[in-house]
Amino acid sequence: MVKKIGVVCSGGDAPGMNACIRAITRMAEASGVQIFGIRGGFQGLIDGDMLELNLKQVENIISQGGTILKTSRCEEFMTENGFKKAVNFIKVNDFDCIIVLGGDGSLTGAGRLSDAGINVIGIPCTIDNDLNYTDFTIGFDTAINTVTELLQNVRDTSASHNRVCVIEVMGRHSGEIASYSGTASGAEVILVPEVKVSDKELMAKVKNSTSRGEKCVLVVVAEGVASAESVAKKIKKQTGFDVKSMNLSYVQRGGAPSTADRILATRMGAYVLSEAINKNFGVAVGVTGKEIKSFPLNKIHNAPAKFDKTLLKLNDILSI
Ligand code: F6P
Repeated sequence: MVKKIGVVCSGGDAPGMNACIRAITRMAEASGVQIFGIRGGFQGLIDGDMLELNLKQVENIISQGGTILKTSRCEEFMTENGFKKAVNFIKVNDFDCIIVLGGDGSLTGAGRLSDAGINVIGIPCTIDNDLNYTDFTIGFDTAINTVTELLQNVRDTSASHNRVCVIEVMGRHSGEIASYSGTASGAEVILVPEVKVSDKELMAKVKNSTSRGEKCVLVVVAEGVASAESVAKKIKKQTGFDVKSMNLSYVQRGGAPSTADRILATRMGAYVLSEAINKNFGVAVGVTGKEIKSFPLNKIHNAPAKFDKTLLKLNDILSI
């Protein structure tokens, strides 16, 4: 009988993490299971930093960005000694399961805990949407809505000045945020790591977009390709246009989670609790279409690439 579960957020925070923590805690309360929040990511496992979660602590957090448990990128967890301390803490405190909310690196860490004999279930929480085994990760929908709104603001002022503006967005090595928000904003150019664009092609796209005079040009570049500044310098040098650049940076990761992310987080959190009660460990939860299901942790990194190049091709045609 599963009686005690720990939940930890790791890596970059993501809007929807709190909605997920809320669903896990409320589901646990309904199932007679004790829930403990581990604070500060995997560092909290090493330092033994935890608090019992109850209905009071998760009141009104469904709409809050960030995570009430804090998070971290824990270097010590990567060391043998640190990892051993984390495993020992879990065993000494008789956790029946540890639920890990996080992205690529954090679910890899969850896999290491699983290989060390710890009962683990992972939940994909990252704005990057760079986990191929699941259609979407918690935080992605909020991030693309935030970025789309910011790109609209940039377009308003760029149009007033007939400027070219290069905007850098997050995503680590993925172009998902750039592709979705760029397409939703009618960006004239979208640069992603998944599709190579030569300088010659880039300049041709920019010149073509300005060929009708009254026109601003938005170039959305994923951080995995280059910095906005370096792309802007290149365009200015090769076209002589008035080019501005900016990096949206951390504003992309904050804010209240979107409705879609709240629903995804709630469904995944509740589903994971039932998986834990059924002792289906060593898995990560994901969504395929509308279906929430579990995938073996040791196979999630083998999933085929899911990046949708058709979206970029469509945007290329429509942004003539
Ligand atoms: O993984 C989420 C993410 O926001 C990436 O898009 C970005 O490259 C990274 O985190 C930034 O990490 P940090 O918050 O440690 O600077």
